[in-house]
Amino acid sequence: MKKKTAPDWNTLGSATRALHSGIHRTHQRENSLAMFLTSSYVFESADQARAVFADEEEGNIYSRFTNPTVAAFEEKIAALEGGEKAIATASGMAAINTVFMSLLSSGDHLVLSRSVFGSTTNLANTVLARMGIGVTRVGLSDLDAWEKAIRKETRIFFAETPANPTLELVDIAALAQLARAHGILLVLDNVFCTPCLQTPLELGAHITVHSATKYLDGQGRVLGGAIVGEKELLMKHIYPYLRNTGPSLSPFNAWVLYKGLETLPLRMEKHCDNAEQIVQSLATHPKLNGRIRYPGLPGDPQRAIAQKQMRRFGGVMCLELENRQQAHRFIDGLQLATITANLGDTRTLVTHPATTTHGKLSPQDRLQAGVTEGLVRLSIGLENAEDVLADIHQSLDQI
Ligand SMILES: Cc1ncc(COP(=O)(O)O)c(C=O)c1O
Repeated sequence: MKKKTAPDWNTLGSATRALHSGIHRTHQRENSLAMFLTSSYVFESADQARAVFADEEEGNIYSRFTNPTVAAFEEKIAALEGGEKAIATASGMAAINTVFMSLLSSGDHLVLSRSVFGSTTNLANTVLARMGIGVTRVGLSDLDAWEKAIRKETRIFFAETPANPTLELVDIAALAQLARAHGILLVLDNVFCTPCLQTPLELGAHITVHSATKYLDGQGRVLGGAIVGEKELLMKHIYPYLRNTGPSLSPFNAWVLYKGLETLPLRMEKHCDNAEQIVQSLATHPKLNGRIRYPGLPGDPQRAIAQKQMRRFGGVMCLELENRQQAHRFIDGLQLATITANLGDTRTLVTHPATTTHGKLSPQDRLQAGVTEGLVRLSIGLENAEDVLADIHQSLDQI
């Protein structure tokens, strides 16, 4: 049978890449991806086992580090993100921890944005501190602060843009230039945008990390994570850590995520359409008095950065209410939106970050991350935008 040659993914649009990359058919000629639920693989002979273990022959060994379904997901996310290689992990935090543990040693130094997901701050404050890794936290958009924080031991700059939940941005190209000028690796958490809206590797970042649990799955079903970047960097430093410590993605979750990626470009457009419509309508709401956070808002000081590096502005928005009591009353008054700590689902989700995702931070760390008591995060889903808007209006009317 004539084998088809793979196209050059970089010449194709993201919808095409999402659908056609990472296809590996078995001899059964299945159309949809096959799922390999196996923990290990069988060898023809003891010598074949020896040869595969010795890297003399290619082949699967054990699903902690080689699984065809996981590999197909890795190929698809790499094709979307424009990276040479991806390594899948069991969750977004497993991806972030794997990057830190693979690339940092005792005595090294990390510069970390103050505005990151709560567990990332906790990881730095606890595990990294215990291992003797120095951490300096800086304001996300303050490039001078990033520069001033550099020491001769600095190995990594880590940032999220847009940040969870404040939606603050950093100029990725400028931060990458600074990092590269000092031989530092820039690692960017691209969860809020996904590769459909922003491709940090093209802007100079070395590595992107994902919580695939969010938009990549997009339907609130499974946990997963991914690390994407240059093949040599990933294979030399990150793959051995994954192989030996096992924060691996399960083949079942990889299959779900692979199917999720197929519709990612389509879903991201609709998330953006809905969020834009809702933000526009709430901009003049008297109870909010303009206290809405959404990247690219007219008049926002970071609008130029948003326009420069994001194709569209995403599905997450925040409302800033007066205090915790108001925020809780607004959340409880919503009829359609569900209260949960996740984001990037088909359904609209609402979260009070100060008492949930960022609840374990010290009050000082929380404020430095921009997480006020009145902040409410809305992850806008794929419903009819008018219905979500009506729900928000009726709840705002009650407070
Ligand atoms: C921006 C960001 N990064 C990382 C994570 C961690 O991902 P996971 O929950 O898959 O471990 C989250 C989770 O909410 C997140 O929002």
